[in-house]
Amino acid sequence: MLYFDYAATTPVDLRVQARISHALAESFGNPSANYKLGKASKNKLTTARRRLKALLKLDEASDLYFTSGATEAINWALRSQAYRARDLGLGHHIVTTAIEHSAVDRVLLDLENKGFEVTRLQPNSNQQFSLEQFIEASKQTTIGWTVMAVNNEVGSILPIKELGQYAKQKGYWFHVDATQAIGYQMINPQDFPCTSFNGSGHKFYAPKGIGFLVYQAWNKEMILDPLLLGGDQEYTKRSGTENLPYILGMVEALELMDQGYHELQESFVELSTYFFQQLNQTGIEYQRNGDLVHHNNRIHSIWLKEKLASQVIIQLDMQDIYLSAGSACSAGSIKPSRVLTAYYPKNEARWRESVRISFGRYTTKNEIDQLIEAITKIYQ
Ligand SMILES: Cc1ncc(COP(=O)(O)O)c(C=O)c1O
Repeated sequence: MLYFDYAATTPVDLRVQARISHALAESFGNPSANYKLGKASKNKLTTARRRLKALLKLDEASDLYFTSGATEAINWALRSQAYRARDLGLGHHIVTTAIEHSAVDRVLLDLENKGFEVTRLQPNSNQQFSLEQFIEASKQTTIGWTVMAVNNEVGSILPIKELGQYAKQKGYWFHVDATQAIGYQMINPQDFPCTSFNGSGHKFYAPKGIGFLVYQAWNKEMILDPLLLGGDQEYTKRSGTENLPYILGMVEALELMDQGYHELQESFVELSTYFFQQLNQTGIEYQRNGDLVHHNNRIHSIWLKEKLASQVIIQLDMQDIYLSAGSACSAGSIKPSRVLTAYYPKNEARWRESVRISFGRYTTKNEIDQLIEAITKIYQ
């Protein structure tokens, strides 16, 4: 098997698996239970939360909630902040980009149905998003901005620092969907000013079904609404017995990302350079999609001219080579990707003929050689 879809999900690291297995066997006590076994679990939970905050360079006092993944955290953060700001009489207008993940886009669609107004910015002529565009789109009734840190389909990096600094100055809430950035981009509060951001374990070698939301409102009145009512877990904001094994696994996974950070970044640069060198040598006509100046070297979207992406994917699939067209969520649908239509509004061929190749911790040059060979054969 050759796996080139690390942006869709990553395999669980063996060390993380071991951590989880150990916790499943040894730390099964309910963290809310008032005896030693429960208290031991509670201690592990507290330590894991503290460790995760440290890895994210957050203050001990900041609010971090464990969730089932990014979709849940995004739904929670956007809805809570939108309704709270509207209830406070601050307005009802939200600005975002046209290239957000559907977890953001669909929540915003729903908010539009509930009377909010949403402006979705298109990339500018340099295939970028600028602070000026956001300022121009904002008005008296604007309450918040929501922007992804790294795009999951084309790997573009968005100017979160600049946007966040301005949003803070204006008092807008600012959510950052950092799903594709956590573990891959250095995060520190100065570079990441926002009122909330989220991450998802399965993008960095932890299992699916575990993630987190960080909430740090600039305005004390912008209290985070509870997501699930019940017991007192997660500071009464997300009730339900905590998934301690997966929480411990996710923190371990991020710890490993942190330890191997520079090595992994270097390997992405090397693999990307190698991949395009080899692809150039084949003479295949292609173009890269998205913002190539601000790009993460990990997620590549490539327009393979005159080859339908759906056909390329099927042919590679038959050889156990895995990559995708657009995001995993929209891969099964016949609708063209919102991201590609935003970048190339008039180029239908480009929407249908683009594939996404994403690298990970286990990608090798030898695998890239085999991929290039398989793509070349499709052209022959
Ligand atoms: C940018 C982005 N946001 C949100 C999500 C949703 O993540 P999850 O699967 O954890 O709900 C994804 C997953 O593909 C993503 O890439």
